[in-house]
Amino acid sequence: MSFTFRRSDFPDGFIFGAATAAYQIEGSSFGGAGPSHWDTFAITPGNVVHAETGAIACDHYHRYADDLDLIRSGGFDAYRFSTSWARVMPDGRTVNPQGLDYYDRLADAMRERGLKPYLTLYHWELPAALADLGGWRNRDVASWFADFTETVIGRIGDRMEAVATINEPWCVAWLSHFLGIHAPGMRDIRAAARAMHHILVAHARSMEAMRAAGQSNLGIVLNFEHANPASDKPEDIAAASRQDGYYNRWFIQAITQKSYPEDVLDGFAGHMPAGFEKDLDAIGQPIDWLGVNYYTRSNLAHDPDSPWPSVKSVPGPLPKTDMGWEIYPDGLHSVLTRLARDYTRDTPIVVTENGMAWDDHVENGRVDDAERVSYFDAHLAAVRRAISDGAPVKGYFGWSLLDNYEWAEGYAKRFGMVHVDYETQKRTPKASFEAFRHAIGRN
Ligand code: FCB
Repeated sequence: MSFTFRRSDFPDGFIFGAATAAYQIEGSSFGGAGPSHWDTFAITPGNVVHAETGAIACDHYHRYADDLDLIRSGGFDAYRFSTSWARVMPDGRTVNPQGLDYYDRLADAMRERGLKPYLTLYHWELPAALADLGGWRNRDVASWFADFTETVIGRIGDRMEAVATINEPWCVAWLSHFLGIHAPGMRDIRAAARAMHHILVAHARSMEAMRAAGQSNLGIVLNFEHANPASDKPEDIAAASRQDGYYNRWFIQAITQKSYPEDVLDGFAGHMPAGFEKDLDAIGQPIDWLGVNYYTRSNLAHDPDSPWPSVKSVPGPLPKTDMGWEIYPDGLHSVLTRLARDYTRDTPIVVTENGMAWDDHVENGRVDDAERVSYFDAHLAAVRRAISDGAPVKGYFGWSLLDNYEWAEGYAKRFGMVHVDYETQKRTPKASFEAFRHAIGRN
């Protein structure tokens, strides 16, 4: 099983990487980390499959050196990882030296192996003590996040290749405060509107802190989902456009044009924090690169029984992954070309996540994840087409290096290029990992 491309089919200097996130792999019970809102959300019945937490996860906290060796052996150039706020500051404000030491060792270990570190400061484990104060609903979260940023960058910034402030603000704000699917599990339009804004104020304060510290190559990671109308009825087309607004346009328009989409502001009427307009200038400060996470498209229909946004997702006809997500590589091409054309222009874009869940099993010591090989292959073809259509895409990170804690799905969904046996913590590279090694390895 191999890919249809080689490294030489991509522009010189194109970066191939593997991505993970702290809570999903490290083990939140190690190294003096404090409780985060994910630890408490997960043990509340009904939120997470089997009420599983990231307490142990892939035990990467202890096994990071071997895991980095693995990335290197796959021929990857870069590793995208994140720093846990609850590990660095267990109560959200006070530094845990053990936590900082850990990221310091990790940074050295990446550089020793010639891997370029792509840091994401926040990938979702808000310290429980800050959640107590209202978390992303409280505007003060922006200055708390700036303090966390300064602490992390002050210690490991010198070894970072690139830094993103926040992973997937849509998930932090909408999925977690409007749909209630992720921590803190709220379903409240006012909470959501506030979080949709405060997350960007936090991004702005974090950018300012890093610029002041002389850190370079700064950006943010946004997720995009191609919004497909479920039919050609005008009301379904309008529903898809509404979802496109709060999912795909809200964050990038604010960052590149210093404004929010009017259609979404209308929906949030009365719920946005007073004076939000005054923050747009800082939110729109230039970024050096944009991270794009892409997995699937959504099929959207008008829902007459629900208040704004009156949208429901309906199952689509395409083949699906183990998450039930449709496989739609053309959507990645359209997201990348649309971004470059309408928003980011010449700003470098990096695909920071792309991948699929599958019900993988080890058989005779091997995992033949043929579906994942073709998923990666088709999406990397879409990236190549976007590049030849003029989108400045500079890199691609597969999600994920390892099978890991998939949030509300617990350990039930496997996204790894490397299989993890959670009983023994044994790692088994899958066929997709070997396919990368074959296509991009330099030996
Ligand atoms: C993204 C998250 C990542 C992972 C993938 C499957 O939304 O950033 O942590 O869970 O989805």
